[in-house]
Amino acid sequence: MPVEHNIGEEVAQALLAHYDRHARSLPWRTPPGSRNLPDPYRVWLSEIMLQQTTVAAVIPYFDRFTARWPTVQALAAADEAEVMAAWAGLGYYARARNLIACARAVTEQYGGRFPDTEEGLRALPGVGAYTAAAIAAIAFQRRAVVVDANVERVVSRLFAIETPLPASRPLIRAAADAITPETRAGDFAQAMMDLGSSLCVPRNPQCLLCPLRSSCAAHREGRAETYPVKAPKKEKPHRLGLVWWLERADGHVWIERREDKRMLGGMAGLPDSGWDKAIERGVPPAAGGWITLNRPVEHVFTHFRLTLTVQRKRVPTDTAPPGPGQWWPLDRIGEAGLPTLFAKVARAVMKAGND
Ligand code: ADE
Repeated sequence: MPVEHNIGEEVAQALLAHYDRHARSLPWRTPPGSRNLPDPYRVWLSEIMLQQTTVAAVIPYFDRFTARWPTVQALAAADEAEVMAAWAGLGYYARARNLIACARAVTEQYGGRFPDTEEGLRALPGVGAYTAAAIAAIAFQRRAVVVDANVERVVSRLFAIETPLPASRPLIRAAADAITPETRAGDFAQAMMDLGSSLCVPRNPQCLLCPLRSSCAAHREGRAETYPVKAPKKEKPHRLGLVWWLERADGHVWIERREDKRMLGGMAGLPDSGWDKAIERGVPPAAGGWITLNRPVEHVFTHFRLTLTVQRKRVPTDTAPPGPGQWWPLDRIGEAGLPTLFAKVARAVMKAGND
């Protein structure tokens, strides 16, 4: 993959000029070329939320979080269960646990100021190589090579990288390094992300509108869409489990806080059998009389596919709590902070109604 003379400079100039006119206005950004750097707290929060999650999904969460916890110190002082509940629906819940740990580390160890180097940022809980580079570039204008999935696609096309992902990552990184300018680090990083999500999209890339068209090897070959080449995906393992909907006659459902070390740890949840095995067994929160819903709930996690069989049971209003947890009013189920999997179960139960 020969890097042509000056292609780096050409690409950076063309991309930044395009960004100056077309940058998306997003609540964690300052306008292109702005002398005001964005608040590192907001940059950090947005980058954590944007991991594996779309901009459209993140915006309302970002707005709610920053309204409720406007500074890193405020987030550090927040009640953990409230933060987890506010995160419900965004997925990848380890991010929320690390979020609190990171806010506390920044507040307690750094006096509320984020470290301003990639290395310093990398040492914080939940901040990996990508996130450290993104924050260093966007919040502190440090030259950093920022490579997320969008950037991988743009760079693979620009240089027509034939090696399949993930083996191509070091090549992609080197190529991204070669086009990263010394100045306007944050704008360049975000311009690459914007290009990957607006024009240089996976299907039907809009090459005719692309500011990098004349430098793009894949476009010259007339086959931009074939990049990035990917190694065939392995099928996800399939797991099974049982989930129990225990409902009191006065319209309350039994909800637990999940133990920290389990999946979805720290989140609110319904009692379940665990999903480690491809068999359904476990100890329900009450003995006997369970009715199985006709249709199970399907959910896809990063590393496995899950089919949950839902069992429900009605009990009298004076039923004692079956363990640590709480009876939650059904008419406020939307505020229980249930992650998507359990919200799906709740919907399935409501839909099944009284049959
Ligand atoms: N994805 C990850 N970080 C982003 C950012 N700062 N702007 C837009 N999309 C992003």
